[in-house]
Amino acid sequence: MSSTPLRFLITAGPTREFLDPIRYISNRSSGKMGYAIAEAALAVSSNVTLVSGPTSLTAPPGVEFVSVTTTQEMAEAVWSRFGSADICVMAAAVCDFRPKTAAGSKIKKGSFSGVLELEPTPDILAELGRRKKSQVLVGFAAETDDLEKHAREKLIRKGLDFIVANDASAFDAETNRVAILTADGKVERLRELPKIEVAKVIIERAMDLAR
Ligand code: CTP
Repeated sequence: MSSTPLRFLITAGPTREFLDPIRYISNRSSGKMGYAIAEAALAVSSNVTLVSGPTSLTAPPGVEFVSVTTTQEMAEAVWSRFGSADICVMAAAVCDFRPKTAAGSKIKKGSFSGVLELEPTPDILAELGRRKKSQVLVGFAAETDDLEKHAREKLIRKGLDFIVANDASAFDAETNRVAILTADGKVERLRELPKIEVAKVIIERAMDLAR
């Protein structure tokens, strides 16, 4: 076995998309799952980068911490580091849409038309799937319906090695019940576990595929 530690690139938390300097669109992600994955990675490697959207959590000591706010910032932070990663886990809950224009000053109630025009943000993970060389690439799928069907479709569409499917009820919870779907068609269903235990399984499965 080589002595160089595996290099982990992990994302966590939500992103924010601003309408004006004080208002934004975001989601309910707490970041707990992604931070738990960073902690589990640190137990096996000294080379862990955590790219995180805004959360109330403290970065695990020893991690290289990169703080971002918008999807575009997260995309740039991740894409620029992907080439020097061995394992990348995208646990962040990325905003899929952003306001087409962000006002430079506060939108006043009296002048707002009531219509907010949105445009898609870049799909960070799909782009990693296109750039992927020897990296192990792991995604998440948060769904309210047809969990495994949608997760498998994302696994294929984004070119992943495996995807962690969880019900949207896991948002901001202490535990998570997930299924791990692999590119070769297998499904591993875990019982409901604390997020750190789920994280350890994800890290183990990713390491099995690395190098
Ligand atoms: N993801 C990403 N960039 C985006 C949206 C999602 O990198 N703009 C990543 C997430 O971090 C996650 C995976 O893609 O690992 C799936 O995210 P999810 O929100 O479940 O799926 P979407 O691609 O947004 O598809 P849909 O909105 O149809 O559920």
